[in-house]
Amino acid sequence: MKAAVLKDYGQPVTIEDVELRPPKKGEVLVKIKAAGICHSDLHVVSADLPLPVPMVLGHEGAGIVEDVGEGVTRVKQGDHVVLNWVPECGTCYYCNIGRKDMCDEAQATAQSGTMPDGTTRFHLNEEEIFQFSMTGTFSEFTVVPENGVIPIRKDVPFAQAALVGCGVLTGYGAVVNTAKVKPGSSVVIIGAGGVGLNIIQAAQLAGAAKIIAVDLSPRKFDLAMQFGATDTIDASEDDVIDQVIELTGGRGADYAFEVIGNPNTIAQAYNCLGKGGTAVVVGIAPPHLDVSINAFSIPAQSRTITGSWYGQSNPIVDVPKILDLYMVNKIKLDELISKTYQSLDGINEAFQDIKEGKVARSVVEF
Ligand code: APR
Ligand code: ZN
Ligand code: ZN
Repeated sequence: MKAAVLKDYGQPVTIEDVELRPPKKGEVLVKIKAAGICHSDLHVVSADLPLPVPMVLGHEGAGIVEDVGEGVTRVKQGDHVVLNWVPECGTCYYCNIGRKDMCDEAQATAQSGTMPDGTTRFHLNEEEIFQFSMTGTFSEFTVVPENGVIPIRKDVPFAQAALVGCGVLTGYGAVVNTAKVKPGSSVVIIGAGGVGLNIIQAAQLAGAAKIIAVDLSPRKFDLAMQFGATDTIDASEDDVIDQVIELTGGRGADYAFEVIGNPNTIAQAYNCLGKGGTAVVVGIAPPHLDVSINAFSIPAQSRTITGSWYGQSNPIVDVPKILDLYMVNKIKLDELISKTYQSLDGINEAFQDIKEGKVARSVVEF
């Protein structure tokens, strides 16, 4: 069985003939039909998101249930599923208060690159191969925990469904679940990439009046407008904060989303806010970096800075909802797919395209 393996940081992924061990109790074997390539995969390659190697990357995917381990009730063979990269344990404090996105066990297991029992299902020449966040979608098949599969309707194409597993849910959830954007408000999105475009379209769906897309790469602006942006700012030419203040009648924005993972743009998002505004950090910055913001302005202008991990979502509820919205043309998914590859060989090229800001999303279709 073929899988794309990152053997060491900074290296291209290589296509290997790996062994996949069968699903244990409470686990599911999925035949991957489509996998999206997200900037978080690239964060692992660059070691900005420090995870163990060798690893099967890919965390955005959809496929068909091939087999289930003992005791699995959520899905059966033949079901179509989207993979969930925060498969909650269901019993920790955060799961109990309804914050599955913050599940202690899912976070700890993702760090170890294993399954919840501490072992790996992928092997190469008897060596353990780690698995990105209990998913590992750059592979013909994968084994995941039962809570790592979200059953979906069968009339959505796999490539479109795959994107909902990370980029769409992360962006949509940041708007709907974290910020709870109100109708008529002004919203700034810094970084109009695969995730940022979904913040733009969710902000439009939530009724935002002003949706300002900021990017370094002007080729993102046509797409941003298509997804609902009302204005664009070219960060390579213009002063972002001045422009936002001007576009919001001198007040600053009600909401600003950082969707890059860079302390400078996180501070920029905060500095775009008007009084009472909320900055939502979605981009994943390297863990050792800090952000500097003005202390006085936090109380004096009643500003909020918060984070959003995986759209603060409840995937079993939110993924089918987003697919229903797609089927009634209220969420765009087709337009997110800039390039498709018919084999895992395309992944290194897709990484290069992300680095150069060329694509919304690339998808491997199996
Ligand atoms: N100012 C404005 N835009 C920038 C800047 C900058 N300084 N630096 C990068 N960008 C733009 C890029 O041009 C690109 O359009 O940010 C966008 C990032 O988009 P993608 O590379 O497609 O990344 P995406 O998959 O959307 O992920 C964004 O969210 O979930 C996290 O880990 C993910 O940190 C990553 C972030
Ligand atoms: Zn992702
Ligand atoms: Zn938990």
